[in-house]
Amino acid sequence: MKETPTSTEKQGGTILAPDAAPIQVDWAAGRLLGPPAKESVKTLAELEPLFLDQAALRAMDPQLEVYRVRSWLPIAAGTEGGLFWGVTILQPGKVGDEYFMTHGHFHANRSRAEYYCGVQGKGLLIRMDDQRSTSAEEMRAGTLHYIRGEHAHRVVNTGSEPLIFWACWGSDAGYNYGAIRERGFGARVVERDGQPVVIAHG
Ligand SMILES: [Fe+2]
Repeated sequence: MKETPTSTEKQGGTILAPDAAPIQVDWAAGRLLGPPAKESVKTLAELEPLFLDQAALRAMDPQLEVYRVRSWLPIAAGTEGGLFWGVTILQPGKVGDEYFMTHGHFHANRSRAEYYCGVQGKGLLIRMDDQRSTSAEEMRAGTLHYIRGEHAHRVVNTGSEPLIFWACWGSDAGYNYGAIRERGFGARVVERDGQPVVIAHG
């Protein structure tokens, strides 16, 4: 049987030495390892306008971490046709009866889709179209979510442990946060009798 040469075998007079991968993933833990990974943290203060119960919010520590994103951007943002990779760790918690959530955004380029994949914890992926019609999909370890380019997306942690999920998106997808800042999302996820309830409000 003819064996496929490995990358370290001699091919045509050239020794192909494998390069060290610049970054590694720990799938089960949702960890992105390596110096190229960049990290950003969103605190309660930065998400303040998004929550309904402002009185409850004022009683909380504004520096409380709601979520952090570790990402690998191997090419410049805006480069056509590339891909980015990242992981989000969304903490459990509530403002009043509203669960902690990511900011949520439309993509600036509506033709650019995105994958989310659940790693740990439980929650909901909320999508919204241009008519502000929303739908919710359960997220937990192993769930894979294809997000169409024209849909806004937000993740809500309805559990008691961090909700961790991988994401893969286009380097030219961009972000449009303004629409969510101005009018909010078309649904809120609140706790009622100990259970998460999605309240669509248009
Ligand atoms: Fe996105």
